[in-house]
Amino acid sequence: MDVTVIGCGYVGLVTGTCLASLGHTVRGVEKDPRKLKMLQDGHCPVFEPGLQELMQEHYASGQLQFTGNVKSALKEAEVVYLAVGTPPKDDGTVDMSFLEGAGKEVCDALVALNNEYMVTIVVKSTVPAGTNRKLYNFLKQQTNAYVQVVSNPEFLREGSAVKDFLEPDRIVIGGESPEAFRMMRRLYDPIIKREEHFMTMAWESAELTKYAANAMLAARISFMNEMTILCEAYGADIEDIRKGIGTDFRIGPAFLRAGCGYGGSCFPKDVAALEHISKAVGHENLFVEAIQTVNKNQKQRFVQKIVEKLGRPIEGATIAVWGLAFKADTDDIRESAAIDVIRYLLEKGAHVRATDPKAMENMKQLFKEQVEWFPDPVSAAAGADAVALLTDWPQYSTLPFRKIAATMNQPIIFDGRNCLHRDVMRETGFQYYPMGRPAVENTLRLKTRV
Ligand code: UDX
Repeated sequence: MDVTVIGCGYVGLVTGTCLASLGHTVRGVEKDPRKLKMLQDGHCPVFEPGLQELMQEHYASGQLQFTGNVKSALKEAEVVYLAVGTPPKDDGTVDMSFLEGAGKEVCDALVALNNEYMVTIVVKSTVPAGTNRKLYNFLKQQTNAYVQVVSNPEFLREGSAVKDFLEPDRIVIGGESPEAFRMMRRLYDPIIKREEHFMTMAWESAELTKYAANAMLAARISFMNEMTILCEAYGADIEDIRKGIGTDFRIGPAFLRAGCGYGGSCFPKDVAALEHISKAVGHENLFVEAIQTVNKNQKQRFVQKIVEKLGRPIEGATIAVWGLAFKADTDDIRESAAIDVIRYLLEKGAHVRATDPKAMENMKQLFKEQVEWFPDPVSAAAGADAVALLTDWPQYSTLPFRKIAATMNQPIIFDGRNCLHRDVMRETGFQYYPMGRPAVENTLRLKTRV
């Protein structure tokens, strides 16, 4: 089929590239000339494993094209994705201007092209219930273009977006037009393994499904994080509890990892949006408020633990922060727990050193010279009074800990992601404080032993 994707940001690019890999002809429209040049030169402007290779392959074959011109990109289009920003406004409602602007531009171009067949406009953005209906009504008022609007929320995780797109658990389509539903069914045919995984529903149901999914996942994390308080108070281990409940098929094992709080571009934004959506209909949603409060408290609790267990005043102490990205395998720092933790540490007068394999440049924009930057965890820890591990980069669990302990002022690690091995910590002479797990409190300091 012929597909046009308006907006070649993260979602637009993953969508366009993956659809091209399924055999569709995809034209991506990008208005930013710098980004467009990059794309036309075959470079992927976002970091996402596997995306660059897939993009280059289908760009080279012509299956995927990039242009700055909406009209030329729409000549053959049957399906048009709007992958533009829907930023929240100060009052918590969504700014519809990009969506309406892009939708209107598409419709005007279709009218100018004398388009005679129906075009399905697909909204990928996460938007409050009622937005797609509003967009549809707006477009109907503004133009005579023969279009339908469907909502198709994305459930992509950064770091595995290509796989998530090509092997989805389900595809959710919201709308009112059976013809548009059939078109979307045809478009996604190669990746629909079972018919029941392709779901059509009302616009509002699809919109709320996206918020409900993210809030449910965030709730599971906050629930486990709240449990870490009880684990620490009673000497229980959150990892045992995770396995103990995750094997119950009614609960399932995913998204039960406790830590120093969730972050990213979706969970914090979508849970907050759900609170606003609830308020808009006069409902105080205590549940989503709790999810957010627990997440905020968990970061403060993590810093409080550092203050209590450091064995010296936090003011003037040097803390090495390992990991800045909101999760491993990305350079994204949006709403990363590291931002709040570093802020709290600085407020308490600590010297903060930071390192991350991918996200350092992004974090530098935020903290500049307030923080000292190090190329690797070993050099960041040398001379520090403690390490605060904040991102679950897999390479952190295989570091030369004995060597690191010997170079630190005090060999202490606060593991905000529970990703190090307690036995290794014990054997290499660390004081080790995970989240909701028994601590390792070595009385022998390695420095005095060597
Ligand atoms: C999420 C959703 O998973 C995805 O479906 C949606 O489309 C966008 O938002 P993403 O933000 O890329 O994806 O990351 P995800 O892997 O879900 O992790 C989000 C945050 O939760 C991270 O900070 C991660 O560290 C944290 N997390 C995740 C936990 O603390 N514990 C867990 O068990 C899982």
